[in-house]
Amino acid sequence: MILALKHKIFIVCTCSVVLSLFLLDQSFGGKAVKQQEQQNVTVLLWHWPFHRAYSLEGDVCREWYGIPSCILTDSHAAFPHADVVVFHHHELKYKRASLPLHLPRPPTQKWLWLSLESPAINRPLAAYDGLFNWTMSYRRDADVFVPYGELVPRAPSPVPAGDERHDDYAVPGNKTHLACWVVSRYRSGHERSKVYQRLKQVVKVQVYGRWVRRPLSVADLLPTISRCYFYLAFENSQSLDYITEKLWRNSFQAGTVPVVLGPPRGNYEALVPADSFIHVDDFHSVEEMGRFLQQLAGDPRRYASYFAWHRLHDVKLYTDWRERLCQICRHYRSLDPGKVYHDLEGWANGTGFES
Ligand SMILES: *[C@@H]1O[C@H](CO)[C@@H](O)[C@H](O)[C@H]1NC(C)=O
Ligand SMILES: *[C@@H]1O[C@H](CO)[C@@H](O)[C@H](O)[C@H]1NC(C)=O
Ligand SMILES: *[C@@H]1O[C@H](CO)[C@@H](O)[C@H](O)[C@H]1NC(C)=O
Repeated sequence: MILALKHKIFIVCTCSVVLSLFLLDQSFGGKAVKQQEQQNVTVLLWHWPFHRAYSLEGDVCREWYGIPSCILTDSHAAFPHADVVVFHHHELKYKRASLPLHLPRPPTQKWLWLSLESPAINRPLAAYDGLFNWTMSYRRDADVFVPYGELVPRAPSPVPAGDERHDDYAVPGNKTHLACWVVSRYRSGHERSKVYQRLKQVVKVQVYGRWVRRPLSVADLLPTISRCYFYLAFENSQSLDYITEKLWRNSFQAGTVPVVLGPPRGNYEALVPADSFIHVDDFHSVEEMGRFLQQLAGDPRRYASYFAWHRLHDVKLYTDWRERLCQICRHYRSLDPGKVYHDLEGWANGTGFES
């Protein structure tokens, strides 16, 4: 049943990809005509996230991401005519930027609240009730959904008919460590620290990062992690949809199997195949999990099965703020124009379980 459902979702996804490629092709094909018809959407970024600015020269969304009629600007002079004004939460919270509450707000202009942090880091938010129309976040129910990464379909590699051997998948070899973890800010109160402390009693965990004064450069990160059978993709807090680059980049792109600590298993399964990761909740105890990791590393065929998804999917990371901003234009016309977030914190805290 679940499998059938997944297949349907996959087919729907494939169709929509094909459809959007078709539409994209159409819009490129009918360039001159379409550009006249399509109203531009102007997106004003009020301040750059973490004060790192990037160039907005040229038609960024069209040239880089195939999204037409989308004008990105960071010039405050555009405020009176901007369709959407984007506010990144971190700078508001630390008073490095403020909302232009003193300016007359054009009646159709939408204010968009942007954050990729967990609810615990964003709080408090009550001061922003009733000000924002839209949200942009890793939450699937945000108005503009911007995940840290996603799996995208790829053309299947040619496997001879009837030959379903798992060894055909590219399982990176040369593994020298059982489990690895990269941590820069260690807090003993974090759930992930508690799991680590118990896990290392059972199996050796190779730790990198600022916490142990073994930082890894960007160039060294993936080659180093690729030598581990398992990567501890432990999020700093457990909240709805909060699944970061620890899964997409550090685990999947590095070619290792993630052991995840974050939202419940079902939340991960909404985004990645059920057999692509190990969840801390899959076990009665951390000790049991440690023994399982040891067994799995000694069973090449079973270990390889965790890489089966590579045959049909590639990992796509989202790291560029400009690409995220362009997504606003992609969804602009289907978003609720009259929406107001009266309880932003209530929304940001999510539902279902607490962090
Ligand atoms: C949209 O913006 C582009 C680039 O600034 C401009 O050349 C074009 O005329 C605009 N289109 C409309 C319909 O305003
Ligand atoms: C395996 O790892 C070792 C240690 O980093 C390295 O010297 C060796 O070249 C690697 N072998 C392969 C086949 O990648
Ligand atoms: C956007 O939110 C503001 C603040 O609550 C509200 O006054 C305005 O009507 C909303 N915009 C639209 C177009 O509904």
